[in-house]
Amino acid sequence: MLFEKDYGEGVIAIIPLHKKAKELGSCEKAAEYYSKKFKDYAYEIENCFLKIKIKDYVEALKNSSLIKIDLENKPQRAILDFSSPNIGKPFHVGHLRSTILGESLSRFYEFLGSKVIRWNYLGDWGIQYGKLIEAYKKWGNERELKTKGLRYLFELYVKAHNEGLQGEEEFKKLERGDKENKKLWLIFRDISLKEFKKMYDLLNIRFDIWKGESHYYEFGKEVIEDALNKKVGFEDKDKSIVIDLKPFGLPNLVISKRGERSLYATRDLACLKERCNLAEKIMYVVGNEQSLYFKQVFKAAELLDYCSSTSLEHVSFGLLTLPKGKFSTRKGNVIFVDDLISTIKKEVTNALKSKGVDVGDEDIMKVVVSTLSYALLSQARRKDFVFDVKKFVSFEGNTAMYLLYTYKRAKNLINEVSSHKMPKEIKHPISRHIIVLMHRFPFYVKKAYDNNDTYYLALYAYELAKTYNKLYQQQKFIGTEYEQEGIAISYGLIEKLEIIFHILNLQVPTKI
Ligand code: ARG
Repeated sequence: MLFEKDYGEGVIAIIPLHKKAKELGSCEKAAEYYSKKFKDYAYEIENCFLKIKIKDYVEALKNSSLIKIDLENKPQRAILDFSSPNIGKPFHVGHLRSTILGESLSRFYEFLGSKVIRWNYLGDWGIQYGKLIEAYKKWGNERELKTKGLRYLFELYVKAHNEGLQGEEEFKKLERGDKENKKLWLIFRDISLKEFKKMYDLLNIRFDIWKGESHYYEFGKEVIEDALNKKVGFEDKDKSIVIDLKPFGLPNLVISKRGERSLYATRDLACLKERCNLAEKIMYVVGNEQSLYFKQVFKAAELLDYCSSTSLEHVSFGLLTLPKGKFSTRKGNVIFVDDLISTIKKEVTNALKSKGVDVGDEDIMKVVVSTLSYALLSQARRKDFVFDVKKFVSFEGNTAMYLLYTYKRAKNLINEVSSHKMPKEIKHPISRHIIVLMHRFPFYVKKAYDNNDTYYLALYAYELAKTYNKLYQQQKFIGTEYEQEGIAISYGLIEKLEIIFHILNLQVPTKI
């Protein structure tokens, strides 16, 4: 379905009929087939294309969601695996993209009526914790750990890496349940979780399940047994256990290395065995770099018969970076999210000041979170993205501030006039166009669903806001014959923006 361009007055969509025409015998028959789905609209056939048009603008304004578009295989229950940071390391920008996109998709599926389970699959197991334990035993300082928290763990981790610590022995001890190592691991985990939770609170994000790798390592055994029993796995020359994926054009998946109880993949498979009973669709919001890995895991799960009636999807995304030089990266080339947030906060505070808006800290934080969320969600997820903070802290252009400002403008307009009536007629061509856009919303929803990307809703919100502002600049409403029309259009805008703001995690400040 096409809708990006303008197809003339009142047209909300143009449907190519050729394919259906082949099936049904003629373009007319195909048109008849589709027009049934859009029975509240007028339509025209032109060169085997069906134009769906607004019939009556006032009616269309009263009821802006006439279209029910079928979304294929919409799940009743959906699991979103997102954020899933590794403990012992500060949250980095890659996890940030997963966090923001995962939360947004969760809200989107809720909007579609799915029951959503938000799952934080913590990276809290693996050889790196052996390294960290070894480093702590060598150089650790309890007081520093208490005061500096996660940053201290990260310093230790970097040092361990630079000094070439292996952590093998300590990790084995941890796996065997060694008391001291277990205690240290728990302390590290607690410190990390506390800081992650602070971040989630700030960003208005919550999870239903916090179960990650440490929970599943014990079940790795089962996966290995299943693989051998079902003959989808075999023991390799070096004694590792491998799932044979060569026939499917994929590299084999190692699920057990000599001596080690489980690997990242084994734990993911163990988790899938449980998860697949909980939902019809499972989405992993994880960076592009794990694309091959997820192909392997999904294929392995299929061979193991863990997920016969659940669809698995890797919702991948491109690399997020910050412009070189503009942002100080620290040791280990990691950008801490709290540093990023302070930078945005400084910019936002300045921008609001220069507009002469005097706002409190709570409002500033709302704009900060909105700006951050919108910056990431207004990019198509698969693309790499350089986050230029300055560009997104602006009242102009495709930014959160622009949308929030537009929203406020509509609200203020409504509040300025005391009596509201539905107008008898919609006169202004831009008002009419806004009504057309309102009816295009379901098509954007479908795009977002088909691509698992709420970026399409950002695109939509921007288009709507731009058009509204154009109208606002061209036509005075208050005290003119356009007064009620302007109010009715403003209501329509607000209704759509509120839906989208929630999905994109935009928060309206009391003052802007
Ligand atoms: N902890 C992993 C990382 O930081 C991401 C985990 C994604 N989820 C999963 N079920 N594998 O790369």
